[in-house]
Amino acid sequence: MMKGIILAGGNATRLYPITLAVSKQMLPVYDKPMIYYPLSTLMMAGVREVLIISTPIHLPAFERLLGTGEDLGMKFEYKVQEKPVGLADAFILGADFIGNDSVALILGDNMLYGSNLEALLKKASKLKTGGLIFGYKVADPTSYGVVEIDKNGTAISIEEKPENPKSNLAVPGIYFYDNNVVNIAKNIKPSARGELEITDVNKAYMENGNLKVIPLENGYAWFDTGLADRLQDASDFVKAIEVRQGIQIACLEEYAYKNNWISKEKVLDHAKKYSKTEYGKYLKNVVDQS
Ligand code: TTP
Repeated sequence: MMKGIILAGGNATRLYPITLAVSKQMLPVYDKPMIYYPLSTLMMAGVREVLIISTPIHLPAFERLLGTGEDLGMKFEYKVQEKPVGLADAFILGADFIGNDSVALILGDNMLYGSNLEALLKKASKLKTGGLIFGYKVADPTSYGVVEIDKNGTAISIEEKPENPKSNLAVPGIYFYDNNVVNIAKNIKPSARGELEITDVNKAYMENGNLKVIPLENGYAWFDTGLADRLQDASDFVKAIEVRQGIQIACLEEYAYKNNWISKEKVLDHAKKYSKTEYGKYLKNVVDQS
């Protein structure tokens, strides 16, 4: 089984003063809290048990927002990260939660959208051995993790924020690993900037020829909402699609229903709660049209 972790801590210094008192992953992306987007991505992958990691200050707000997960036919657990010591810390903090399973990690400020995404994610979540990441073509890869692949889609080099990138494939903040990831994370050393780097986890898999990369072709959207401009871009994108098409992106109850985790009646209960919003109207439609 594949479990899921959402990393929703960090300092979000690039969004100060907005994030002096509020968690970045709680900020609105158009009409929903940011964390809805990565959570819905895990749900698309069919991941039903999710660990949410955040700071001592902000974690309680996520518990208030998302609860036990029962309302979605899911199971949520929560864990404090005392200090933002790096993305790979997720697997150390999450070791008990992961148990003997494989795990998908998604960053709480990453948003992916595309018509074939659900199929790609479902496939990724079937992973039994090794690691699997995505590659997203960007104009300027220098501020990302950058991966180079061979013709079979196996990673042959991976670098964090390279000055001279070997490819234009940036690595989005969603990663699938087998159970070895816990041991790998426990054995990596902090980088020059003092963090347990996810790139070092990926390198460990790559060195064994075990890191697959799925390139996201044209037509996918990937936003990392860590800067004010990008946050605004993501909001504009969601608004454009939702208003134009009359749909909802990251509608949690819709995915729970489609995955057969909750009943029609439950969806209608949720729809009632949100009846004054487009979200609520959409939910009612989801049931009416099924
Ligand atoms: P970053 O964007 O690298 O860090 P940040 O959110 O603290 O932002 P800033 O650079 O503006 O200070 O983190 C990526 C995501 O991972 C983000 O959702 C926060 C989360 N994160 C943690 O939860 N714990 C950590 O130790 C780190 C490094 C990040």
